Amino acid sequence: MKEIDWSNLSFGYMPTDYNVRINYRNGEWGLMETSSSEYINMHMAATCLHYGQESFEGLKAFRGKDGRIRIFRMRENAKRLQSSCEGIMMAVLPVDRFEEAVLEVVKMNSRFVPPYESGASLYIRPLLIGMEAQVGVKPASEYMFLVFVTPVGPYFKAGFKPTSYVISRRYDRVAPLGTGRFKIGGNYAASLVPGDEAHRSGYSAVLYLDAKEKKYLDECGPANFFGIRGNAYITPKSNSILPSITNDSLMTLAGEIGLRVECRPVTVDELGTFDEAGACGTAAVISPVGRVDDPDRKISYIFGENGEAGPVCTLLYNKLRAIQYGDEPDTHGWVTIVK
Ligand code: PLP
Ligand code: COI
Repeated sequence: MKEIDWSNLSFGYMPTDYNVRINYRNGEWGLMETSSSEYINMHMAATCLHYGQESFEGLKAFRGKDGRIRIFRMRENAKRLQSSCEGIMMAVLPVDRFEEAVLEVVKMNSRFVPPYESGASLYIRPLLIGMEAQVGVKPASEYMFLVFVTPVGPYFKAGFKPTSYVISRRYDRVAPLGTGRFKIGGNYAASLVPGDEAHRSGYSAVLYLDAKEKKYLDECGPANFFGIRGNAYITPKSNSILPSITNDSLMTLAGEIGLRVECRPVTVDELGTFDEAGACGTAAVISPVGRVDDPDRKISYIFGENGEAGPVCTLLYNKLRAIQYGDEPDTHGWVTIVK
């Protein structure tokens, strides 16, 4: 195997040895199959290609100082996939089948789990797609669930360094009564143009506002948003954002370090009251938000301390990482050790 430069991995695709697949046919999920091919066979009229019957997940495995591999909160990803599948009328995969597939693919590719010292991790990408041919707009009766893995470094190139985000009133990622709370491909397709504009202007991502009134904060591209004000951890509650498992974990940890947790609608104007802010997600972990520009209103909001992440973001980041890498005991039952 070509040497991998573990400490300088980006968030990109690298081939690994195996992936796993489970097919749904005749109303039931079949046996798990292992493959070393990076390709799948499908009908040209498959519903995932035409009508967006596609949902994916993202979770990570970490190698600890003790050499053991830990997977973070995979049961939550299994449940969220079920919710996404219900949201777009796809067959629902039982939680234990999801967990079995994730464990198998991680075990088979254990040589790709980065070493502890590198700070990198193994990204796990489950995918569930409609496979049956349809021309009318209706759900398929056949599906494929597959899981592949790839070793990754930080999603935002800066890693744990504050970067800038931009508010855009010209685009909506999702509709208020639409599919924003599901993790489905169409939401990401809708984010490509605004995301590209933001990147070309030097921003990490768009901070989306609610689509109806443009008054409340939604989320930060592929991550949830939170702000810290005094001893409060404040994060938007909205029907059109993805329920982030990282954000849920941070709310628990924030409560444990004595912060008051507020999950509620958060207005744009409140940005001016936060001491610190962050984007959080599996890929992003915590990515400190250093600045949010609102070009329409010619306002910039600055967070953190002299261009560095603030103390609360730093503490939360360190606590989360310590649990994920096994440096701190897993008192919440969040971690599955791969045997
Ligand atoms: N919001 C969006 C749109 C995402 O794609 C993700 C990534 O999964 C998140 C938030 C963060 O969710 P999680 O912490 O479960 O990875
Ligand atoms: C994740 O954080 O796992 C994501 O899915 C974000 C992005 C890569 C789509």
